[in-house]
Amino acid sequence: MDVSRLEKRLAEAGQSHLLQFLEQLCPEEQADLANELESMDFKEINCFFKNAMDTSGQSKKEKVDARMEPVPREILGSVTRDREFLKDWEEEGLRCVSQNKVAVLLLAGGQGTRLGVPYPKGMYDVGLPSHKTLFQIQAERILKLEQLAEQRHMSTCCIPWYIMTSGRTMDSTKEFFSKHKYFGLKEENVIFFQQGMLPAMDYNGKIILEGKGKVAMAPDGNGGLYRSLGANKIVEDMERRGIACIHVYCVDNILVKVADPVFIGFCVHKRADCGAKVVEKTNPTEAVGVVCKVDGRYQVVEYSEITLATAEKRSSDGRLMFNAGNVANHFFSLPFLKDIVNTHEPQLQHHVAQKKIPYVDTRGQLIKPDKPNGIKMEKFVFDIFQFAKMFVVYEVLREDEFSPLKNADSQDGKDNPTTARHALMSLHHRWILNAGGHFIDENGTRVPAIPRHGPAGTLTPDGSQNLKDGTDLPIKCEISPLVSYGGEGLEKLVNGKEFHPALVIDVNGIHEHVKNGL
Ligand code: UD1
Repeated sequence: MDVSRLEKRLAEAGQSHLLQFLEQLCPEEQADLANELESMDFKEINCFFKNAMDTSGQSKKEKVDARMEPVPREILGSVTRDREFLKDWEEEGLRCVSQNKVAVLLLAGGQGTRLGVPYPKGMYDVGLPSHKTLFQIQAERILKLEQLAEQRHMSTCCIPWYIMTSGRTMDSTKEFFSKHKYFGLKEENVIFFQQGMLPAMDYNGKIILEGKGKVAMAPDGNGGLYRSLGANKIVEDMERRGIACIHVYCVDNILVKVADPVFIGFCVHKRADCGAKVVEKTNPTEAVGVVCKVDGRYQVVEYSEITLATAEKRSSDGRLMFNAGNVANHFFSLPFLKDIVNTHEPQLQHHVAQKKIPYVDTRGQLIKPDKPNGIKMEKFVFDIFQFAKMFVVYEVLREDEFSPLKNADSQDGKDNPTTARHALMSLHHRWILNAGGHFIDENGTRVPAIPRHGPAGTLTPDGSQNLKDGTDLPIKCEISPLVSYGGEGLEKLVNGKEFHPALVIDVNGIHEHVKNGL
């Protein structure tokens, strides 16, 4: 270990404090710390810090606010307003899938801090009757879509699944997939790769030590994707496989339509190189970014980077002016992605997230601060919209496609396991009704399509006790993605039939559980 060389590098970078406890560490700890520091490019990190701090701050927020314009109608497609085109778009998307041109790319390198579990979010079981995890649900949607494309075009096909993890989630994610035999997918078509990490810094640009011999490191944001695609030669792998379009999405949305053929078909039809799926944002304080134009270029202004005054602005029709809520589902053509990775990646700025970062003080005591004491630097996946030559936006219905899992369960909370579970069951309930099926209660009476909720103590539609007045409990009902990707193919199973909740439809058939015994 060449300590003097390391000391010199640290001194030049103004980061000498990182070795202040070196002598108190055992030889292995000393070697670990030295190795970690050796691998860091301090010049680059200091430069990231300076640029990130320069572009953040309240006054900058106000400046962005003043330059924001809503998405113009001509680049917008909509699942409700463009009904007559949906079949054509779906057909186009399925054609691309059947020709092996579509890949999906999952962003799963986040730490899930808000959910508060020590394992990757994709491994979370929100408590569905089947107890499927988010990863399994997504894997089965891929399998089903491959089947649908194959049936339509009489050719076998495959949708490769690229999964970005981070240093903190890689091993457990890989183990989980291996343990579950890749949920029926072929192992060679599930490709894991790891994003980069960056140190947390205090407000003076000093790297934070979270232990005497340990730097506080965090993943470099979901926009770390592009650097990591380059480092892991993923674009080359896509080219080898003949991929033309990529659907990028976040792990936490239980309703995500992985490789959604309608979205892909819409983007291909519009000859877009880049596209974003949105839902209407109706609450100014909802934690979603908004797709908009700034200085004539498309971008997402993140919820942490917009002022309340702008978030609350309304158009003449009474809707929020900036209502294109980003659901973190993006379309990229392969040439566009390649161009980003090879050319534009270094131009992407880090955003600043102010955090409470545990640190060791000069006496070596671990301090857990109760207010933010430093920053993490993150690139955002959508910061490449600005480079698109043909950018499009596709608006979908929240109740069909967006229910993210962000927080742990709590009374009246949102975006948590309960809301995610309910969103999926409520969607599947609607699929059953639309396919001509009905639900009956234990007295044989049809359960109304729009559940009525009695006061506390009465029975709810799923046969359990209503704990609170007005509790919005959906019918317990789950349809395996292996049976239906988006509500299709259910008529032959349910039309004209009556079911007791809880109802599960999977590849082994229809299962009714009259009692709450699942
Ligand atoms: C994200 C979007 C926001 C959108 C919202 C919808 C970004 C930057 N923001 O916000 O505009 O409205 O979802 O739910 O995309 N991840 C990584 N590596 C990281 C950090 C995160 O892969 O270093 C992944 C996570 O695993 C997750 C996704 O990125 O799949 C989103 O991360 P999260 O921090 O939950 O984003 P939000 O702040 O909720």
